[in-house]
Amino acid sequence: MRTALYPGSFDPLTNGHLDVIERAVRLFDRVIVAVAHNDAKVPLFSVDERMALVRDALPPGSGRIEVASFGGLLVEFAREQGASAVIRGLRAISDFEFEFQMALMNRKLEPAVETLFLMPREEYIYVSSRIVKEIARLGGDVSAFLPPAVAVALHKKLERDRR
Ligand code: PNS
Repeated sequence: MRTALYPGSFDPLTNGHLDVIERAVRLFDRVIVAVAHNDAKVPLFSVDERMALVRDALPPGSGRIEVASFGGLLVEFAREQGASAVIRGLRAISDFEFEFQMALMNRKLEPAVETLFLMPREEYIYVSSRIVKEIARLGGDVSAFLPPAVAVALHKKLERDRR
């Protein structure tokens, strides 16, 4: 059984992430969406909220997709889960430098885990959680970029933060 890990902050999940998940599950028997406890970033949503939003957005019958969270090293978690691959979405050349560095460092740490880059549909190439949050904060419409439940949750969260 081939397992892939799809790690990220997912703060929050976008349609671009979902697109990558759908592509990954066509290639692997089991895909684990791994939500990072990322100390370097202050997230808008808690890990539990981010995991719940991913779960809610998965299409029915996604039995081969699991949602988990991890702290610590990505390659350690990959090893624990028996994952042979790490999936990362690659949107633009600007992503490349960081992704390249991370892939090679992870390979150095754990040669048995391969990093695979998947490109989302063109319409999601410019979508990122960061930019979507910024647009939403400034009152823009982000519904085209997010699963409906995520758009609602983001709206509520920003409303609460404004009070
Ligand atoms: O969605 P993001 O924020 O681009 O995801 C980055 C993430 C969480 C995948 C990356 O920061 C990570 O793997 N963190 C875990 C700690 C780790 O293993 N760091 C070394 C990577 S070379």
